[in-house]
Formats: sequence, C-alpha cells, structure tokens
Amino acid sequence: MTYNDIDFNKKTILITGGAGFIGSNLAFYFQKNYPNSNIVVFDCFRSEDTFSNNNLKSFGHYKNLIGFNGTVLCGNINNKLDLKMLDDFKFDYIFHQAAISDTRVYDQETIIKTNVNSFYDLLKKSKKDKSVMIYASSAATYGSLPSPQTVGSENPENPYGYSKLLMDKIANRYINENPNSILVGLRFFNVYGPREFYKESTSSMVVQLGHQILSGKAPRLFNGSDKILRDFIFIEDVIQANIKSCQPVKSGIYNIGTGKPRSFQEIADILQKELGTNFPTQYFENPYSGYQTHTQANIISTKKNLGFNANFSLEKGINSYIAEIKRLYFEEII
Ligand SMILES: NC(=O)c1ccc[n+]([C@@H]2O[C@H](COP(=O)([O-])OP(=O)(O)OC[C@H]3O[C@@H](n4cnc5c(N)ncnc54)[C@H](O)[C@@H]3O)[C@@H](O)[C@H]2O)c1
Repeated sequence: MTYNDIDFNKKTILITGGAGFIGSNLAFYFQKNYPNSNIVVFDCFRSEDTFSNNNLKSFGHYKNLIGFNGTVLCGNINNKLDLKMLDDFKFDYIFHQAAISDTRVYDQETIIKTNVNSFYDLLKKSKKDKSVMIYASSAATYGSLPSPQTVGSENPENPYGYSKLLMDKIANRYINENPNSILVGLRFFNVYGPREFYKESTSSMVVQLGHQILSGKAPRLFNGSDKILRDFIFIEDVIQANIKSCQPVKSGIYNIGTGKPRSFQEIADILQKELGTNFPTQYFENPYSGYQTHTQANIISTKKNLGFNANFSLEKGINSYIAEIKRLYFEEII
C-alpha cells in the first residue's frame, strides 16, 4: 500500500534504528512497495550490556531483518567513526529511529548523549545531502499532562521524554533557520505490532498479554485497568505517518496517535475474544508512581499538515496482529 505519490524507487533512504521495531517495518515497507529503492539500515543491534534496570542497552535484533535485501551497517550513533560510514552515500530521505527507547532508563548521561548529540550529527548529514528528514520523537515529552496532549505544552517526567523534547527544540530551531528544508518530528503514542517482540519487557502490552493468555494464564493487569487509557497506535499507521511526513504541508512536530484512547482492560478483552479464551482478569497493585492514566493525541494539526488519519482501531490492529502473536509464541517462546 502506498500513501502518497512519491516514487521512492531509485531513492537512497537511510533508516537509523532499522534493526528495531519501527525501523525494520519501515525497511520492509520500502523493500515491498519500492523494490528499486536503495535502503540503508544503520543500527548497533544488541550487545549483552544492560542498564541498571536489567534491560538491554539496545534492542536491535537480526531476526527483524531476515528477508531484508538492502544494505545493513552495524554502527553506533554515538561513534563519529561509525557515522563516517554514511559518507559513502547521499541520502534523499533519512528516517531517524535509533534511540534508547526504554522509558525506564535513568542513566541521564547515556540517554541524552545517545538521543540528542547524535541528532546534531544526523541533521548535519541531512543538510549536506539536502535530504528530507523524519525523526522519532515521543508522547513521553508530555509526562502526565492532561489529555488531549498537544504540541506546545510539554512536561517530560523521565530522562527519555526529556531527551525527545530536546530533539524537538533542536528541530524547531533548525526549521526556522532552514525554511526550505523538510524536517518532521513524530511524537508516537503507544505503538504495537509485528517486530516489537525483541523489545522484550518494553514491548507493548498487546503482545505481552497475548503471550500470557496463550500460555494458559489469566491476563494480569493493574487495579483499575478499565480506567487506565492510552492512545494505542498500530504499526501500519505509524508507517503511514512516516511516509506522509515526506510531503508535509509544513515541517514541524506532530502527534501520531488515533486520537481515541482505549483501556488496558479492553486490550485483554479483545485478545481473549481473538484467542477464544475467557479467563477472569487478575488485578494487582500498580507499583509505579507518576503513572500516566490517560493519553490521547491531539491530532488536529497532524491531520491538517500531514494528511494523517489512523486506519486501525484497536480491534482491527489486534485482529491483524494475532497470527503473528501466535507464531511468536509457538516459535520463540515454547
Ligand atoms: N514503540 C513505541 O511505542 C514508541 C513510542 C514513542 C517513540 N518511539 C520512538 O521511536 C523510535 C523507534 O522505536 P522502537 O519502538 O522501534 O524501538 P527499538 O528499541 O525497537 O528501536 C530502536 C533501535 O535503535 C537502535 N539503537 C539504540 N541505540 C543505538 C545506538 N547508540 N546506535 C545505533 N543504533 C541504536 C536499537 O538497536 C534499536 O534497533 C525510537 O526513537 C523511540 O524512542 C517509539
């Protein structure tokens, strides 16, 4: 499926973080729809290093790229020598997804270095190549501000959200100073869908609950989960947003969500319907303070300036995803 009339064939496209969830889906989107595009994935993949929360330092995984025929470069966006590998290319489009994506990492130095300093380097490359650049920001820039979360009013409550807000400020400055360039930041809300599995405990509750249910266990949710609402967005809509951002009415920062918040209880209920089970949900105390209880993307400017409109309701997204959730369970878990 194509989302606009740009012909990406013969274009050279960089996807940083291309071994991760969103980046690998972008890589396959271009490979499938524009077989003559020249796609370059740049990612440090994963080592065995972990943060103090015991999560891996990066979640890229070769399995996300099996079947991908473009160029794969293993490099770290923090390393200037690794970035030099990109000098061999002149990019028409840059999709910058690489980041420490774990919202529960508190090593401020590493997060800000990785997510922010590298952005300057990639902007320099984009300016030199005159590329269109789309990068991943996040709804974490809003912290627990009331819904609907709207660009221009932010209050990050973790180093990750702060790093993304810094990127947005850099982008706004860049857009002002380079009015003829195309630079778009996308504040993704809660993304779910195929190729997120290797994010392990940071993957969406859709896949985690799906696997709990498949293992014969009741879904486990925080107390009051019917009143904890999030704006869940299916990966195909996130791809749509990235593609439409290549031809924006104007550069800027945009929310990417459905605009229709849904509860964690609804996720468990839809999954049980899809999987043909009827376990009573088990509830437990939420251990986190400062937990967001309601997110809803304000997508007025996204619709107007990107022409974006989510095609997938939570029901439709889970229905499209369920076969993959089952495959993962039977091939990767048991
Ligand atoms: N998935 C979501 O719900 C969501 C929501 C908001 C924002 N985002 C943002 O979208 C982008 C993609 O997220 P994702 O869900 O695909 O996460 P992900 O962790 O699967 O992908 C990020 C990729 O970046 C790579 N990476 C990390 N550090 C790197 C480094 N120093 N050098 C090179 N590569 C590095 C990882 O190996 C990984 O493949 C991220 O910037 C993330 O912050 C995602």
